[in-house]
Amino acid sequence: MSDATPRAGYTLQTHAPEETEALGRLLGQSTPLGSVIALRGQLGAGKTVFVRGIALGLLAPDLIEVTSPTYVLLHVYRREGAAAPSLYHIDAYRLDGGGAAFEGAGLKECLADTQGLVCIEWPERVSEVLPADRLEVDLEHCAPTERRVRMMATGEGSAKVVEALVHKAGSRSQLLSNMKVARIGGAAIDRGPGLC
Ligand SMILES: Nc1ncnc2c1ncn2[C@@H]1O[C@H](COP(=O)(O)OP(=O)(O)OP(=O)(O)O)[C@@H](O)[C@H]1O
Ligand SMILES: [Mg+2]
Repeated sequence: MSDATPRAGYTLQTHAPEETEALGRLLGQSTPLGSVIALRGQLGAGKTVFVRGIALGLLAPDLIEVTSPTYVLLHVYRREGAAAPSLYHIDAYRLDGGGAAFEGAGLKECLADTQGLVCIEWPERVSEVLPADRLEVDLEHCAPTERRVRMMATGEGSAKVVEALVHKAGSRSQLLSNMKVARIGGAAIDRGPGLC
């Protein structure tokens, strides 16, 4: 239940918010319910853009936002007229008090929902509640419209998700055709030719 060493992963580079959203969309289409995606990166790195894509991939075209009592910390997305699946978008930036505050705000229930996907921005603020097997997404600002997106699996389930996603991104979608992809070997990151 703490930061795990990355097992497998890839680095990609996006050149516009639409590409980051499209990558998120592919992830939303290929991630099993019950998974947790931790999104790291500085303010404005593109975490929310990426989560919007995940929500679209999971729930479009019937996506609706459900008002949550803790809306500053949590946004919930569902399909119109359906209770599940849900996308829980947690932003821990303003959460003071780590895991205890996370639990106190009722956010642990999101992690327990097997019919949901959980995306957490600023996961380093609540690292003690993160499951050992999760997908870590790290967005880095390279240039005004370029972002380096590192996706790292920390367990068996998330490793399958990463492999499926990169296969999909590489084999279809013209939008992603100019995306450069590099494999991360073990914990060492291979930036690959042309990656920022
Ligand atoms: N390639 C890109 N991918 C994602 N966003 C991009 C890209 N290029 C430019 N942007 C812009 O960067 C901004 C990213 O904002 P976003 O809210 O997603 O950041 P964030 O990481 O969630 O920040 P915060 O920590 O403040 O919540 C948006 O204004 C978006 O249009
Ligand atoms: Mg954000």
